[in-house]
Amino acid sequence: MDTSVNDSLAAVLAAHPPAPGALLPLLHALQDTLGHVPPESVPVIAEHLNLSRAEVHGVVSYYHFFRQAPAGRTVLQVCRAEACQSRGADRLLAHAEQRLGCASHSTRADGAVTVEPIYCLGLCASSPALMLNERVHARMTAAKLDALLEKEGL
Ligand code: FES
Repeated sequence: MDTSVNDSLAAVLAAHPPAPGALLPLLHALQDTLGHVPPESVPVIAEHLNLSRAEVHGVVSYYHFFRQAPAGRTVLQVCRAEACQSRGADRLLAHAEQRLGCASHSTRADGAVTVEPIYCLGLCASSPALMLNERVHARMTAAKLDALLEKEGL
C-alpha cells in the first residue's frame, strides 16, 4: 500500500475504534480523506473492526456513494432519485455521458471527469438537479449543463 494511503488509513482507524456501527462512519472518513476507499484497505478495515472482508466489501460496493478508485479532476453527479427521474434526469444523464464520452459510474481514461449517479440532493422541487464539483445546480437542462461543462473545459 502507498505510504500516504497507509498513513491516512492508520489515522482513520485510530479515530474509529472497533464498535457496533463503526463501519460506515469509518468508510466515510476514509473517502473524505482519500477521495475513495482503496480496495487494499478492505482487509485492514475488516481486521480492525473484526468483520469479514466480504462484509466490508459488501458495504463499499452496495453504497453508490463509495468510490473504489480515485475520481477524475471534475466530478459530475446527476440525481437519479424519483423527483428528478420524473423530470428528465435520465435524458440529462444520457446527454452528459455522450458529451463527455464517459459512462455513469466511471472515470474517463484521461482522468478529466467522473460521472456518477447520486440519490437526492434536496432540490426535488427544482428538479432535475445535479452536483458539479460539489456545487449543486437545479432546474437543469442539457443546454445549462453544456454551459457548466464548458466552464470546466469539458
Ligand atoms: S430527487 Fe433529485 S434532488 Fe431530490
